[in-house]
Amino acid sequence: MTLSKKIILITGGAGFIGSHLTRLFVNKYPGYQIVNLDKLTYAGNLENLKDIEGKPNYIFVKGDIEDMNMVKKLFTKYRFTGVLHCAAESHVDRSITDPLAFVKTNVLGTVSMLQVTKDYWKDNYKGKLFYHISTDEVYGSLRETGYFTEETAYDPRSPYSASKASSDHFVRAFYHTYHLPVIISNCSNNYGPFHFPEKLIPLCIHNIINNKPLPIYGKGLNVRDWLFVEDHVRAIDIIFHKGKPGETYNIGGHNEWKNIDIIKELCRQMDIKLGRKKGTSGKLITFVKDRAGHDLRYAIDATKLKKKLGWKPSLQFEEGLAKTIDWYLNNNEWLNDVTSGAYKTYYDKQYGL
Ligand code: NAD
Ligand code: TYD
Repeated sequence: MTLSKKIILITGGAGFIGSHLTRLFVNKYPGYQIVNLDKLTYAGNLENLKDIEGKPNYIFVKGDIEDMNMVKKLFTKYRFTGVLHCAAESHVDRSITDPLAFVKTNVLGTVSMLQVTKDYWKDNYKGKLFYHISTDEVYGSLRETGYFTEETAYDPRSPYSASKASSDHFVRAFYHTYHLPVIISNCSNNYGPFHFPEKLIPLCIHNIINNKPLPIYGKGLNVRDWLFVEDHVRAIDIIFHKGKPGETYNIGGHNEWKNIDIIKELCRQMDIKLGRKKGTSGKLITFVKDRAGHDLRYAIDATKLKKKLGWKPSLQFEEGLAKTIDWYLNNNEWLNDVTSGAYKTYYDKQYGL
């Protein structure tokens, strides 16, 4: 769609996916004004955006999406024509220990954003778009076969996915009830630079570097469909500009891996990069207690996005993983910074390893 003024509010732009999205929009569209609203929780880090912080079309605002008065003031000040809503609590394990935090940010926060946006745009929706970034986890868990399509019924099973499913329902409710122009995309697991090292791949990269155990839940047989983060934000860019309001788009790389196989591939590549003897890092693999309610398999059918909007992933997984490992090895300071302080408390509580 064509945006009339191109003043875009990105929420959660200091997080993993948000920072890649913000960087892409700031660099690719110098004519757009990009405002990044982020609360800077444990997962938000302005270091992720160091390379663009001085750009004239980029502004950072620290704040909470639940603070409707503050968000209203931002709308009045900047007159946004588009919203890319990325802010969320995103870690399943944290949702198991503190589900309410997920209801607050993911449900109440999203409804607050929708309400303020609708109130500000209601007299003229033309050229406006509220884009909600969501996850494939809303569809629940697959057995060995089959894929999630845009028609798959929602069946969330963790507090995280339940909160994201709820936020998706509210986004659609605002479309049907108030005609707010919205788009939702549901993406599979992302990996890449700036991924917070609580999630499987960066956690294991960090632990391999430090010769610490690699905690694999259960038998490591759960399957995830991995997509390089830059391919995800490229898809968001295409959908934001060419997608149809009211529609949903699934994003995924047709790249399914059992957890144990990913970790073995990671160990193989890192032994070479770290100059370690073949098999050294693999000895760190440690099977630990399974995650409660652990979804067996996620797999996305992204045919609609490919056929209607012409997107396709650019990287093969082994190549993306190599790029990711190199980034972490070259950005040791970032890794050390984010794993100091509160991270240690979380890690000890979660794993006690
Ligand atoms: P993240 O946890 O790395 O980042 C979330 C960001 O939101 C952080 O910068 C945090 O400070 C900010 N934030 C949290 N609560 C906030 C609040 N109340 N107000 C303002 N800012 C707040 O998450 P991510 O992995 O980058 O995920 C971003 C979005 O993409 C989420 O909506 C997530 O559900 C979705 N998603 C993630 C994946 C994945 O694999 N990581 C896959 C599909 C979809
Ligand atoms: P994660 O990166 O937390 O993403 P999600 O739960 O959203 O898919 O986990 C990916 C997979 O890795 C998931 O099946 C859980 C598993 N896992 C482990 O085996 N050990 C760990 O320490 C973590 C964090 C995840």
